[in-house]
Amino acid sequence: MSRVLGLCHHMSNLIEIKGVTHAYRTKAGPLPVLDNLNVSVPEGEFCAVVGPSGCGKSTLTRLVAGLMKPDQGEVWLHGERVTSPRKTVGMAFQNPVLLEWRTILDNVILPLEIVAPRMPQRDREARAMHLLEMVGLKGFERKRPSELSGGMRQRASLCRSIVHKPDVLIMDEPFGALDAFTREDLWQTMRDLRAAEPFTCVLITHDLRESVFLGDQVIVLSGRPARTQHVLRVDLPADRTIDSLYTPEAAEMLHLLRDQIRIAQGRDGDIH
Ligand SMILES: Nc1ncnc2c1ncn2[C@@H]1O[C@H](COP(=O)(O)OP(=O)(O)OP(=O)(O)O)[C@@H](O)[C@H]1O
Ligand SMILES: [Mg+2]
Repeated sequence: MSRVLGLCHHMSNLIEIKGVTHAYRTKAGPLPVLDNLNVSVPEGEFCAVVGPSGCGKSTLTRLVAGLMKPDQGEVWLHGERVTSPRKTVGMAFQNPVLLEWRTILDNVILPLEIVAPRMPQRDREARAMHLLEMVGLKGFERKRPSELSGGMRQRASLCRSIVHKPDVLIMDEPFGALDAFTREDLWQTMRDLRAAEPFTCVLITHDLRESVFLGDQVIVLSGRPARTQHVLRVDLPADRTIDSLYTPEAAEMLHLLRDQIRIAQGRDGDIH
């Protein structure tokens, strides 16, 4: 409270995206992708982002991770301006990129080898085993990635992306390639993980139910170039289950999001 006002503004949110505008340079000329985008995510919150295909969602994740710099505007993490790639950001993608020549355990340990080179191997293994157990992969730690199902690989990949306790976990459609039931199991696992060790999360998704089930807030982006079109606060109970998605409150939120997506697309779309 006693902080200088200017600082206070950045400290209140873990992620602060302020007036971010970006265009890719292409042979056909500049392609505007983000247009004066503003997003704030308080520490510990789960922020789901939905928007039409190609509107700039993956671009947004690259900017938050510091893999790219915006033409205009600023990205702040933990009160620090992001200008280069960060070790304190964990990332997860649609295809879990696990190394086939390593066991599941050794895959999960990988970020610790990079971020905490002096950490004793048995401590690394204990940390990884704890997470593998939490996501239901105990007994599979000595297997190779190809010996696991797609859902199990994505579980292992989730463990790997949070093993080093990143400030932020950024996920770009991590459950998109899974069947509907496996996906719902993973949603529950995600919530269990966050209940056990809180972390701040940005999730890009095309699945509105996923955004409502996992999100504390859902941000709807407009079509390209993306602007913030709508921000929905998800006031479902913290101990929500899949059944919570069948309540009138959830139905109303899903309906609203669907309408917003239609507006974002400027037409009836194929998002589900
Ligand atoms: N490196 C690049 N160079 C030029 N154009 C790019 C580059 N990366 C992305 N684009 C273009 O920028 C726009 C936004 O891409 P982006 O991948 O951020 O969208 P998205 O919202 O993640 O799409 P999707 O929902 O299909 O994953 C697209 O039109 C894409 O073709
Ligand atoms: Mg994308």
